[in-house]
Amino acid sequence: MTSEWHPDSWKDFPANQQPEYPDLEAYEAVIAELRQQPPLVFAGEVRDLKTRLAKVAKGESFLLQGGDCAEEFSQNHGKNIREKLRILLQMAVVLVHGTLKPIVKVGRIAGQYAKPRSKPTEIVDGVEMASYRGDMVNRLEATVTSRTPNPDRMLRAYHQSASTLNLLRAFTHGGYADLSMVSAWNQEFVKNSPLGHHYEEMANAIQRNLEFIKACGIDSERFPQLHQVDLFTSHEGLLLGYESALTRVDSLTQEWYNVGAHMVWIGDRTRQLDGAHIEYMRGIKNPIGCKVGPSCDADSLLRLIEALNPDNEEGKLVLIARFGADKIDKLYPPLLRVVKEKGYNVVWSTDPMHGNTYKSDSGYKTRHFEDILKELTHFFEIHHAEGTVPGGVHFELTGDNVTECVGGAEDIKDHELVHCYETACDPRLNAKQSLEMAFLIARMLKQG
Ligand code: PEP
Ligand code: CO
Repeated sequence: MTSEWHPDSWKDFPANQQPEYPDLEAYEAVIAELRQQPPLVFAGEVRDLKTRLAKVAKGESFLLQGGDCAEEFSQNHGKNIREKLRILLQMAVVLVHGTLKPIVKVGRIAGQYAKPRSKPTEIVDGVEMASYRGDMVNRLEATVTSRTPNPDRMLRAYHQSASTLNLLRAFTHGGYADLSMVSAWNQEFVKNSPLGHHYEEMANAIQRNLEFIKACGIDSERFPQLHQVDLFTSHEGLLLGYESALTRVDSLTQEWYNVGAHMVWIGDRTRQLDGAHIEYMRGIKNPIGCKVGPSCDADSLLRLIEALNPDNEEGKLVLIARFGADKIDKLYPPLLRVVKEKGYNVVWSTDPMHGNTYKSDSGYKTRHFEDILKELTHFFEIHHAEGTVPGGVHFELTGDNVTECVGGAEDIKDHELVHCYETACDPRLNAKQSLEMAFLIARMLKQG
């Protein structure tokens, strides 16, 4: 991988998980149109995120990344976007309290429209059809026509990402993120949750801190730190045609940036060292995430890091560990050790969702709250034992009251999943489960 990089050099490498478009001319026309579209993010913002992630790597800040497994065009209305933002903000406030560090907030949002799948096709009622690969590729509806990849959906994904991001920018800088309001929402949660009394003390402490600040004469309206937040966007950089069409030279630095999101990540299924995804990602200046699952050994991890961050830049690479609650103890420490030994700068984050998915008796793909919590707990314990920095957490979540993951304070049972199982792909924590998770992390960190 030493040949010269350009936004399309990935085409010389094998690319996994790409849709097969029946009409290649139509596909090329869409890619040409995408190349003409304005950037969704500005390179300066991307550099800002990188600076903040460099602090995460040193243990001076903490990363919270979360959102849908797969965003859906039909769910892209104001209320849904607002509720997703709201839960991220609520979690962030609790995490500030637990970590006493600034929280870097990154949504799986405004572009999370493409999914890797374990099988290219599936059989539904005896009919074979392409698997659903996310709204930017095909439709979820189980018919051969709906599942046929349609390149026009990439354009729609671009435009929907633009409108989502527009609303997020309005909310985060227009008053919706006011700290006292977010704290009041958390108190409301504590009041209404069956196990809320466990978190009451922490929620009250946060509220008292705010009252103290107010009593000192500091009015949140006049202090942007209390009134506004920065939310960065991210998605899996899976569809390389789309990603490369949104890759542009920054006029200030003459460097290449992906301008479709602040951060893009490589999935566990597409991180082959000699593959097209690594080739594409190595050339852009954005912070890059890379999922690290059970099949990644120490040697390939080192080679991945060397390919993705050859200059050992700080804040550039976020390794998102997703082993599963029962595997993390055995598989994770050796990776931490080799990376530490080499002195490589990485942010270590945990995705306690993807290694803990199973099919329940009722037939739903689900995850147990306890398994998620167990992997999280072990992540922090392992870092503590190794003397390395646990930098952040990565969740699949939604602001809605869905029933997709079992357990949590409301103790959602397998037979209750049917009530509101809405995800287009993997099961997400609902708003209450997400906030409860944040309180549990905060408590764990406070207790050291
Ligand atoms: C995901 O984040 O939705 C995903 C597919 O994860 P992974 O690549 O870790 O399987
Ligand atoms: Co997922």
